[in-house]
Amino acid sequence: MLFNIRQLLTLRGADGSGPRRGRELTELGIVEDGAVLCAGGKIVAIGKTKDALRDGWVRKNKREIAEVDCSGKVVLPGFVDSHAHPAFISPRLVDFEKRIAGASYEQVAEAGGGIRSSVDGVRRAEKTQLAQKVLFALDAMLAQGTTTAETKSGYGLSLDSELKSLEAIHTAACNWPGTVIPTLLGAHAVPLEFQDKPQDYVELVCEEMIPQAAKRNLAKFVDVFCDRGAFSEEDSLRVFEAARSNGLAVRAHISQLARTPLQNLLSFSPASLDHIDYVDDADVSLLARSDTVATLVPGVNHFLGLGKYPPARKLINAGVAVALATDFNPGSSPTTSMPFVVSLACTQMRMSPSEAIVAATINGAWALQLQKSKGSIEPGKDADVAIFNVNDYREIAYWMGTNACEAVMANGTLFRNRRGFERN
Ligand code: NIG
Ligand code: FE
Repeated sequence: MLFNIRQLLTLRGADGSGPRRGRELTELGIVEDGAVLCAGGKIVAIGKTKDALRDGWVRKNKREIAEVDCSGKVVLPGFVDSHAHPAFISPRLVDFEKRIAGASYEQVAEAGGGIRSSVDGVRRAEKTQLAQKVLFALDAMLAQGTTTAETKSGYGLSLDSELKSLEAIHTAACNWPGTVIPTLLGAHAVPLEFQDKPQDYVELVCEEMIPQAAKRNLAKFVDVFCDRGAFSEEDSLRVFEAARSNGLAVRAHISQLARTPLQNLLSFSPASLDHIDYVDDADVSLLARSDTVATLVPGVNHFLGLGKYPPARKLINAGVAVALATDFNPGSSPTTSMPFVVSLACTQMRMSPSEAIVAATINGAWALQLQKSKGSIEPGKDADVAIFNVNDYREIAYWMGTNACEAVMANGTLFRNRRGFERN
């Protein structure tokens, strides 16, 4: 039982009919001096500490109940990081320096860097090595309050290496206390050997990768990088079609570099469309009328030094359901930190701290079709919470670049973040 919680952000009260939008994005359902009772990996009850301590059942079972004193702290649902690419081997430091010197993300890719330059490492790696890399990233996420993470393949770009990546993700997931949602991103880039016949690569993704990933239960979602220099709208629709006929749900990277009209992709009811830096008014109103979540990844805009961010205010004011995610990857967003992303959302996209927290929890859960079990602290949901050593939830966004996450509970198991140097 967690008790003496200064601010318990339950996020309860969603009507459950769709992801949160408009004013619902600000509703944190705060209980002051709160308590949360968990059993068997689930949340059993929430309320005030004084009522919990007086409760007959709690008093009777006091000896069996592990108590966690959260005096002066903030407890919120574990972050749901709904967009991440941790299945790679090395950082891309040459690309990093090229961009610092002025090259754009696309120019770096054209010069032989970018996604393709991570492929060799993944193809050569043993599955166990890749699994260790994924687990390392997941552990870094957990230490910053993330208890659910979407985890994409996408740096193998061959049948064997994409399946190997998904298997490595599975191994890492089995060794991580949080919840991993695997996504096949075979359509991330056209690999070099298909450079002159990109349609054959789309065919490989649709006819082999997707059916095998589905058959072997290695992925819940299929993703595609639909953008200038990546896959066309037509290719992407083909990928969506293949996913649908193999029983997998869909999501897409879209309009990061140039606009693609959203109408046709939305007809597949993707759980989420991600990035959307370039949208016009027609796209915004289509999104607002759909249950597709718009997942914003401002870590990318920050890291690439774009000086420009997705139009979060415009989307929110129009009624679009917005989520936030790290997009952890070696090219455009090497951060595992949801608190940092929440901070960027506030300072750079003018989302309020409450909107950013809702976007990083319950709307992330909707973006992964996990809204029934994740993203809020309500009886019956999984016992996934983050304990922050702050007095006020707004500090999570305010203390930029610091990790105030003191502990997490993931599927009912508590982990403490033991930080800091010891004085010699
Ligand atoms: O989400 N846009 C495509 N994919 C990633 C970048 C991947 C990479 O550069 O390795 C993204 O930004
Ligand atoms: Fe991405």
